[in-house]
Amino acid sequence: MGLLIGKQIILGVTGSIAAYKAAELTRLLGKSGAHIRVTMTQGAQAFVTPMTFQALSGNPVHTALLDEQAEAGMGHIELARWADTVVVAPASANFLARLAHGMADDLLSTLCLTTDAPIMVAPAMNQQMWHNHQTRININHLTQSGIAVMGPASGEQACGSIGPGRMLEPEELLSIIGNSFSRHTLSGLKVMVTAGATREAIDIARYISNRSSGKMGFALATAAREAGAEVTLIAGPVSLNTPEGVSRINIETAEQMGQAVLNQIASQDILIGSAAVADYVPASPYKGKIKKTHDNLTIELSAGIDIMQEVGQLHNKPFTVGFAAETENIDAHAQDKMRRKNMDMIAANNVGLSDRGFEADENAIDVYWDDGRKTLPLASKDKIARQLVALIGDRYRMTVSRHSGNQRPAT
Ligand code: PMT
Repeated sequence: MGLLIGKQIILGVTGSIAAYKAAELTRLLGKSGAHIRVTMTQGAQAFVTPMTFQALSGNPVHTALLDEQAEAGMGHIELARWADTVVVAPASANFLARLAHGMADDLLSTLCLTTDAPIMVAPAMNQQMWHNHQTRININHLTQSGIAVMGPASGEQACGSIGPGRMLEPEELLSIIGNSFSRHTLSGLKVMVTAGATREAIDIARYISNRSSGKMGFALATAAREAGAEVTLIAGPVSLNTPEGVSRINIETAEQMGQAVLNQIASQDILIGSAAVADYVPASPYKGKIKKTHDNLTIELSAGIDIMQEVGQLHNKPFTVGFAAETENIDAHAQDKMRRKNMDMIAANNVGLSDRGFEADENAIDVYWDDGRKTLPLASKDKIARQLVALIGDRYRMTVSRHSGNQRPAT
């Protein structure tokens, strides 16, 4: 299942005879390309050893809330932040009750309280426990809190009784977990993403460029594709593979990126500008290679095309989302850029910090629109991209409905 490739999943295993099936689920998730970290409650360890999950997931198993070693490496806060999804399978009646009541008395329950990732639970218990009035209340409460309850299945149980309470089979869980990453919020829409740096020739051997690796833009193209959009990626010279199902156009200069965008912009619903486009380009690139004949060399630069600004001025412009690479007065500069370039949204990142922004695998952004803002805290660029794409989907639909029936909101 392609949707699981690279996804970061925490598998919580609680005390139930179905814990042995979680081992198979771990194997299937890993085979599907997901990265898995397993946390086990004390009850779970009475049924299966952590060693089994360590071998199947390829990572140490987390069992204790206050574990000096884990806190120095990946403690509960890091685990909660790392996760794209938390899956609890099997989820015992006791664990579901503690989750429903917001308990934080072991690693798994604390992690569930700390994470902003979606939580999915696969109940496993005796059918009488499943039918119990208090369990019904707990399950209703969890569902209303946005927690996905997978199953349970009905049938013969380990205790000999027959009825609902069996954990779903690992293959069924795998399919539900995979599909949860495919929320088709951008179905039927055309999304263009710009990514990476541009290169501006000084002479035939040298150029001016910047540190953009394209990671943020490629993650956005992947997330938009997963959300059901038809995606065109206009990429600068970066060494990244084209995301599955995405059309890619390679460019080198800001001018070429601008042309590639403008050529197809009339058919696009959304433009996401995450590329780091050169603001200034050599005024007259030297035709050959500049010889070292003087102590000083002055290269005259002139302002190049501003792609987002040009698109912002189009009469029937698509919904536009820019990025602001800032180091100070981030709020003010980002909002000013959004207004100047007539963008519908802007995602500001602090590129003065080494753990985010240019080249890093993680990012943190503050997203602004006309009457709101949202902070997406430090996380992998894949996760930030999925969160931002979900937000763009919401804002896009709101803008379209404001312009009732007009598919291209001429904002
Ligand atoms: O590629 P990575 O290594 O993953 O790094 C990601 C990133 C830091 C490059 C990315 O998150 C980011 O911040 N991209 C925007 C970089 C930038 O050029 O920011 P800006 O504040 O200078 O530009 C504002 C907006 O105008 C951007 O949407 C930009 O694409 C656009 N722009 C800028 C200049 C220009 N000449 N034309 C433009 O369209």
